[in-house]
Amino acid sequence: MRRASAPLALRWVAFVALSAGCAGSVANAPNSTGLSKWTSRAVPEARGDFQTPPDGKRAAIRYRGWTTRDFNFRTYAYDDPRAEPPVERVTLPTAVTGDPRKGRALFLSRDKGPCTGCHLVPGDEVWPAGSVGPDQSTIGDRKLPDQYLYQLIWDARVFFPNTSMPPWGTIGFLSSEEIVHLVAYLQTLTGPVPPEKDPDRNPFTRRKPLGFGDNLDPTNNPAALLTESAEALWTARGPMAKACADCHEGGVARAMRGVATRYPKFVKTYRRVMSVEDFLTVHAPETTGRPLPAESTDNLRLTMLVKQASNGLPVNVDTSSVEARAALARGQATFYKRVGERNHACADCHTPEKGANKFLGGRLLGDVTNGLTKHFPLWRTDQSAVWGMRRRFQWCMTPLGMNMLAADSIEYAELELYLTTFDNGKPLSVPGIRH
Ligand code: HEC
Ligand code: HEC
Ligand code: HEC
Repeated sequence: MRRASAPLALRWVAFVALSAGCAGSVANAPNSTGLSKWTSRAVPEARGDFQTPPDGKRAAIRYRGWTTRDFNFRTYAYDDPRAEPPVERVTLPTAVTGDPRKGRALFLSRDKGPCTGCHLVPGDEVWPAGSVGPDQSTIGDRKLPDQYLYQLIWDARVFFPNTSMPPWGTIGFLSSEEIVHLVAYLQTLTGPVPPEKDPDRNPFTRRKPLGFGDNLDPTNNPAALLTESAEALWTARGPMAKACADCHEGGVARAMRGVATRYPKFVKTYRRVMSVEDFLTVHAPETTGRPLPAESTDNLRLTMLVKQASNGLPVNVDTSSVEARAALARGQATFYKRVGERNHACADCHTPEKGANKFLGGRLLGDVTNGLTKHFPLWRTDQSAVWGMRRRFQWCMTPLGMNMLAADSIEYAELELYLTTFDNGKPLSVPGIRH
């Protein structure tokens, strides 16, 4: 930004010190990692909180339409001491006879894996199959022992310690009997496979989706219009009789030029890594008196406005300061940490060694090394809404059975910093658009 005049900056710092002292919400006691425990300033549905309804069953408060189930599995919280479930070695039971028909139904069942999310098998009704795991259309030809397949489905980590396949038996997702049926089904899959009529049915030949048109064209991207309307927020005075425009002079495009290229960054005043969204949750109330909670419409709109002033400029996050290096190490560990009921890591779906650039069901998985951040917040065409990066994180983990963290948590901020390093040097382009 064009720096605010020195006396103003000084006054502002003094004001922060004062408000931190009396509000007590900014400076909190450090937790076991030595980081401050952060009090969330997100909208209620983005805080990762729980409530206990009259039936006494703990339910998560989540966005409308999302599950309220309490997963109660390992999370990304730095103070969550739980380990991933230990590897289980099992022996094929002899009491049950496998039924290939039941096995096939389980293989395709949306309530279960579905296995077809990652594996192709023959049949026109198999739709949409993914390619994260190997094609199993002729696995029966390999004459693999039943015991091997049973163990593999129960807990593949015995053979592939770093697998992205969930340990279905260990996590209690599939029963012993169900796995016996699956084994029986897989053994019936012998070639030759009839020639493919529809290239899109096969994820290995399916066309990759093209882009979404010009993301900065308002007739194509509704978020571009929302961003324009955020100019009014920039000039609106809050209860403290100040507007963003009063302190950041010269219009938002000039005042905020280049600022977003440096976020997420370690902000000294708050002693934590922050994205633009995170920063505004604290900065807006402190300077204007107006709350601007994370994942609120106004926070997203102002964030898009601020970021837009850097469009075309290369991302340039700090990777070298002591604070950044410590945060990056934690963010990277989070990226590779397996969590949730399905014991998945971000890396399972978003690294080229694993799922990235392949199909998970019908969805082509983004590749972290190409950069997944420079177009956030973005318009989601299938949700008709703007999503911030943190809502995306929260969503990615929900179907996998992990309780989400608060949108503005330090854990997510450091994870986002790690992801953003892959975008360093690439031009910002906000708001993006995705299906
Ligand atoms: C998230 C993706 C994913 C899902 C869902 C998934 N798998 Fe897998 N599966 C894999 C991957 C990846 C491998 C390859 C092993 C490796 O390298 O980790 C694999 C390997 C296998 C193999 C061994 C194949 C071989 O060629 O040796 C079998 C059998 C298998 N999966 C069965 C299943 C069944 C049954 C289900 C559903 C209950 C399922 N998988 C669901 C990812 C998945
Ligand atoms: C009372 C004056 C004041 C008001 C009102 C104000 N700011 Fe600021 N803002 C500052 C000062 C001073 C800084 C510099 C703080 C620093 O660099 O440590 C700053 C920093 C920022 C930064 C980070 C700049 C950087 O280079 O990292 C952003 C983004 C920002 N403000 C956006 C806003 C928005 C959006 C609003 C309206 C909701 C707003 N500000 C309202 C005084 C103000
Ligand atoms: C089981 C697979 C799976 C896992 C695990 C997963 N995601 Fe995703 N993710 C998806 C799918 C599917 C999409 C939508 C397609 C796409 O854009 O990659 C997606 C999209 C994204 C995007 C948007 C990409 C873009 O260009 O707009 C980001 C960012 C992202 N994921 C981050 C994460 C992070 C961080 C984690 C770990 C907290 C994670 N994901 C874990 C499946 C997964």
